Amino acid sequence: MSKIGILTGGGDCPGLNPVIRAVVRKACNEGDEVVGIKDGWKGLMELDTAKLDLTAISGILSRGGTILGTSRTNPYKKEGGVLKVKENFKKLGLDSLIVVGGEDTLGVAVKLTKDGIPNIVGIPKTIDNDLSSTDYTFGFDTAVNTAMEAIDRLHTTAESHHRVIVVEIMGRHAGWIATHAGIAGGADVILIPELPVDIDEVCALIKKRHSRGKRFSIVAVSEGAQFKKGTMVLQEEKLDEFGHVRLGGIGERLAGEIEKKIGCETRISILGHIQRGGTPTAFDRVLGTRFGVKAVELAKSGKFGRMVALSGNKIIDVALEKAVSTLKTVDMELYEVAKVFFG
Ligand code: F6P
Repeated sequence: MSKIGILTGGGDCPGLNPVIRAVVRKACNEGDEVVGIKDGWKGLMELDTAKLDLTAISGILSRGGTILGTSRTNPYKKEGGVLKVKENFKKLGLDSLIVVGGEDTLGVAVKLTKDGIPNIVGIPKTIDNDLSSTDYTFGFDTAVNTAMEAIDRLHTTAESHHRVIVVEIMGRHAGWIATHAGIAGGADVILIPELPVDIDEVCALIKKRHSRGKRFSIVAVSEGAQFKKGTMVLQEEKLDEFGHVRLGGIGERLAGEIEKKIGCETRISILGHIQRGGTPTAFDRVLGTRFGVKAVELAKSGKFGRMVALSGNKIIDVALEKAVSTLKTVDMELYEVAKVFFG
């Protein structure tokens, strides 16, 4: 029998509960015990845990969010944080720790594997889909579908009022959600962090569209996109414990510029955390479930310092350190496909 800890850290996303359920079901089938650590690394620093048995996970498959809670706590930024994490890992008598997170949470996991807790297995999570070494992270598909549905809805109102509507979509460093939702929803321009925004090009595309009789347009923009010569639009200057600013505001500036330059009434819709909430799609439930089962297998066979990943249709394991070393940005071949429908 072994004792497995699990924590969920960073921004929540649909699919976390299916992962937790899968870890507990697989472990219980094999006579193992699972300890839930609350609110990411914070829970391990503060020894805040929850019993995870079959009763605790019953009925959570379709629920968004995470029953364990999450936080953006970085033990490396807290006085004595790493020491507490190590002490509590021992106190709990854990044989292994499954860490479910994005680049920040898994980045801490990589450091800890070198600083005294080698028995870690990672599971990649983020709506942004920007973790390398895996084709997809769970949460992304749900976010894309939510954003696509929003674009569908914005089409009917934009068309009725003959307006341009700018829709601001999540994506800090990578424009995966905007690109997929934009293609699926038929956005007329898609702007992503990977390619600086040229406002004159955007206006030329809208004008081209309007010149062929279309009297409305939808512009999808990632919150992390930047204007060509300007700076990133920040909501506030304060950094979180992983050094990130809170984004937001590019859509509003873009809408203002478009209205000024082409004289068409322009509105802005910011989707925000709606993209992170709600029930996971079938794809995310299945992916989360497969990741959870594989993570327990790795933990049980002592394959530590590894991260579960999707490669084609296979669940594989990759080096955790490599997975967090670079971000996966939008494939420019995909963006070229999106561009066919611009303007
Ligand atoms: O990293 C995922 C993400 O949803 C980003 O797309 C977004 O910029 C960020 O999290 C928002 O974080 P918070 O929940 O702290 O506002």
